[in-house]
Amino acid sequence: MAFSTTQCHHKAPPPPRPLPSLSLNPPSLSSLSFSSHPSHHKLSLSNNYSFGYGKPHFKIRPKAKQGLEVMCVQSVPLKVMISGAPASGKGTQCELIVKKFGLVHISTGDLLRFEVSAGTEIGRKAKEYMNAGRLVPDDIVTAMVTGRLSQKDAQEKGWLLDGYPRSFAQAQSLEKLQIRPDIYIALDVPDDILIDRCVGRRLDPLTGKIYHITNFPPENEEVKSRLLTRPDDTEEKARSRLQIYKQNVDAILSTYISILKKLDGNRSKEVVFEEIDSLLTQVQKEKSDQTKIAFRGDTYSERASPPKNNWRGIPTRLNNIPHSREIREYFYDDVLQATQRAVTAGKTRLKVEINIPELNPEMDVYRIGTLMELVRVLALSFADDGKRVKVCVQGSMGEGALAGMPLQLAGTRKILEFMDWGEYGAMGTFISIGAIGAKEVAEEDDLFILVAPQNAVGNCIIGDLQAMTDAAGKRPVILINPKLKDLPASSGIMQTMGRDKRLEYAALFENCYLLRLLYYAGTQYPIVGVLRMSYPSPYELFRRVSEPETPQKEKYVLISSFAERPDGDDINYALEGKTREQAKKEAGVW
Ligand code: AP5
Repeated sequence: MAFSTTQCHHKAPPPPRPLPSLSLNPPSLSSLSFSSHPSHHKLSLSNNYSFGYGKPHFKIRPKAKQGLEVMCVQSVPLKVMISGAPASGKGTQCELIVKKFGLVHISTGDLLRFEVSAGTEIGRKAKEYMNAGRLVPDDIVTAMVTGRLSQKDAQEKGWLLDGYPRSFAQAQSLEKLQIRPDIYIALDVPDDILIDRCVGRRLDPLTGKIYHITNFPPENEEVKSRLLTRPDDTEEKARSRLQIYKQNVDAILSTYISILKKLDGNRSKEVVFEEIDSLLTQVQKEKSDQTKIAFRGDTYSERASPPKNNWRGIPTRLNNIPHSREIREYFYDDVLQATQRAVTAGKTRLKVEINIPELNPEMDVYRIGTLMELVRVLALSFADDGKRVKVCVQGSMGEGALAGMPLQLAGTRKILEFMDWGEYGAMGTFISIGAIGAKEVAEEDDLFILVAPQNAVGNCIIGDLQAMTDAAGKRPVILINPKLKDLPASSGIMQTMGRDKRLEYAALFENCYLLRLLYYAGTQYPIVGVLRMSYPSPYELFRRVSEPETPQKEKYVLISSFAERPDGDDINYALEGKTREQAKKEAGVW
């Protein structure tokens, strides 16, 4: 089988999987030109008009109220990275993913083997590294990958990147070019299984299919007789590849932590694929929903900026208080992105919980100023998108001797009024300040940000809050560091009457962002770990580790992720290997 450039115009080929000993005489990678098959271009004029292939198809249909409604009806191209140790099953899963999702599979291992077998300059350079089980120099691989990603077929059909990035520097190269996947899948397989898989792997040079002498033996003698073993699949080289993988993996994962999905790859390939299939289907749905929202003229998100995701991992030096301006701004931006994503996805009852000392007025009432800074960032950003934002602080509650407000919120409204709201006159036009209650909701308000709503001793804010959200209807209401737990009342009433209803109401608000620093019980130093959730990612638990050379410098490493908010036991178990109960007598993490 030989490729010619003419064939390549109609077939978008990454070269088939490894063909090390065959001379294929392929055109060198840089000279290939890919395009989608002409038959894929379609123009359908039936009920709706749809144009193009690979790109979203747009239906234009008459809209009852406001002229035309433009809706994206085809799934947007997916961008997927799959990673894992050597022989974790990346190639095997990629075959199945490509079959189902039609993505362009870009495997650096395959591209390099292709260059080697073609005897190109790149191939000659790469060969010695590959055969030794070492990484090929970044500049060679990166140029190859970015060139391939920019091809038309990858842009239109979406891509599946396998085996890249393999080092922090490679990940950063993509970041600089703003090439980010929608999801980062990491396959996890125990070391001994990996070595067995490597040593037993065989490849069919004719079909590119991957076999294993015991797990997936060839169908017949004919196939068996032509199977090849990769030169880097000896036990010794497999161990060296595994070691290199382990040296790099944490740094790479930290780049993609917010979109990371770790899967157990030590299950049958069908079961692993089932999980990948459902994850990709979900991501595809979310992407197409976002596109729909962005295109629909009558939704809240009419003019919203596309949601960003620039997260770069937990910042270091959180133990140093007060935090620098950079760290504060880093968190403001982190919260902003998550909130924007949730609002753009149509969520309307949201809460942000950020518990770092700088933003936690419970520790020190003066911290309310920093919380206001965060609120200002959120409000101005939504105002920039043309929304009318009402920033609300609860007023005095209760009557007579019990009248009052939580200490942390005293004077907050005044601070808001005196703050610098920028030079563009947003305050009074796109931003207004109000209290909490039904009568605060004006028709022109698009979105409400409520600053630390909380019960006070003897008084419950939930009634006013509920009336306000009822009046707001489908407009987003975002609570910043709410505290809706029951507090003691002189009569004991708050702890009992209507408690179920209050809790039920409080549960309506879902986290679009949560960040909690974790310490050993009863201490505030040093930080043991961090729990973070940023919509739509799961809850992620990080352990703080000290860098050996500079122990005062912290680093946070992901150790677990949870679909639901983990409780104290889950966190203790993940960090300490025992539940909170078991650890109670010593040092439980809270
Ligand atoms: P590359 O080809 O990417 O090798 P790798 O990452 O080591 O991965 P493998 O191809 O070995 O394994 P796989 O995860 O695809 O597993 P597979 O599905 O085949 O890279 C090779 C070399 O190129 C590198 O060493 C490096 O030199 C260079 N290189 C590549 N990218 C680079 C980069 N970015 N920078 C620098 N250098 C780079 O499965 C393995 C076996 O297990 C098969 O036999 C399969 O049948 C079996 N198997 C699969 N799934 C299962 C399952 N669920 N249960 C049982 N068996 C299974």
